[in-house]
Amino acid sequence: MMSEPPVRGLGRRAFLGRVGLVGAGGIAGGVTGALVERTAGPHGSSASDRERTRAVAAVRTGGSRQPGIVERPPAHLVFTSYDLTDDVVPSPAQALAGLRSLLTAWTRCAGTLMAGEQPAGGGQRTLGLAPSALTVTFGLGASALRRTGLAGRIPPQLAPIPAFPHDQLDAARGGGDLAVQICAEDPMVAASAARTLDVLARRQASPRWRQQGFRQSAAAADDPNATPRNLMGQLDGTDNPATGTALFDVAVWADASSPAWMAGGSYLVARRIRMELDRWDLLTVDAQEKVIGRRKLSGAPLSGGGEHTDPDFLAHTADGSPLIPANSHVRLSHPQFNNGVRMLRRGYSYQDGLDADGQPDVGLFFLAYQADPRTAFTAVQRKLDRLDALSAFVRHTGSALFAVPPAAPAGGYVGQQLLES
Ligand code: HEM
Repeated sequence: MMSEPPVRGLGRRAFLGRVGLVGAGGIAGGVTGALVERTAGPHGSSASDRERTRAVAAVRTGGSRQPGIVERPPAHLVFTSYDLTDDVVPSPAQALAGLRSLLTAWTRCAGTLMAGEQPAGGGQRTLGLAPSALTVTFGLGASALRRTGLAGRIPPQLAPIPAFPHDQLDAARGGGDLAVQICAEDPMVAASAARTLDVLARRQASPRWRQQGFRQSAAAADDPNATPRNLMGQLDGTDNPATGTALFDVAVWADASSPAWMAGGSYLVARRIRMELDRWDLLTVDAQEKVIGRRKLSGAPLSGGGEHTDPDFLAHTADGSPLIPANSHVRLSHPQFNNGVRMLRRGYSYQDGLDADGQPDVGLFFLAYQADPRTAFTAVQRKLDRLDALSAFVRHTGSALFAVPPAAPAGGYVGQQLLES
């Protein structure tokens, strides 16, 4: 099968379709070893194959929420923070008109891109590629509302994230008037979408900072729906609230304390967190597990069970010390010790070459969607910064906070509920 020339533009989809066929029928002839093992082995299932096929299809859009929040995060991220351009927006009224026209153009273009179509002026860069589960999610920083004369409508949830004592923030990697989160299974699809939206923004906004990120790809994962690992090697995302549950809805979507224009929206905290991997990799696995409070291999809590067993924070050793240490990351961040508050962590690993000292600049681009960052991210981070055993191995170098409004009304644009009411 692999030796057949791929049909132009359909090669990838046709290939994945066949993987699906192999999974369903148990026919292995001609497929490479890894795929044969996967489809025939314990992790192979038609559910996994359907997920791999879905990973390169177009996402379903059109609901009341923006895409890019509840979907399984695809393998690639291009996240850009933009500032409204000062020289062409001398007054708040003009800035408001500029923002409206930018969001109108961006919303329309994002719809075309997410459908896997080539937008006018898009450079034809993704011809021959599948839609790749592309999602484009727009956010508004408090500064955008201030610059457009809407300071009085800034939600209290957008109160600035306070400085934490161990922060080492680089202003050039934080803040911004607008955010665009682009996720796609294919890196070319993600990069091309970013370029297309940059070009559309040219008159009204310019990029302030950009962060690329990656996760395991659906094609390479034994189980595309399994919790992925971060660059420290831990399963990261185990105790995220599950989509479609009441817990998820309460944790993620703006509640009645948010202004009406945010109904159906969420708040996004972005933190660029560098990992000190040289130091981390010197620890024994046992020590690494105590830092997190979970087993590295299985993700199970140190109190026992499997990955999804609830941690038992009262469990202790014969000498009385807790099995899940007091300064472990999961004990400090677990809802049980944070007024029941949860958030959806949807971050990406990053690898940005070498720093000025020749050291690899790698880490986690932490992205978390939540109903209220004051009681979720900020409250938890205040504790983590002070007490978390993980703090010795990470450094926060960038920070930003955005309101992510609901989806555009039919025929309208993202942010319309704010800008036209
Ligand atoms: C590089 C930095 C970080 C790493 C490597 C990391 C890693 C992990 C890991 C391995 C887990 C356990 C598995 C899971 O439930 O996902 C976890 C849980 C969690 N982390 Fe982090 N994390 C980092 C930063 C943060 C930050 C900045 C916050 C928020 C302020 C945070 C909040 C949480 C929460 C809420 C949980 C779930 C706790 C639970 O319900 O058991 N993490 N993290």
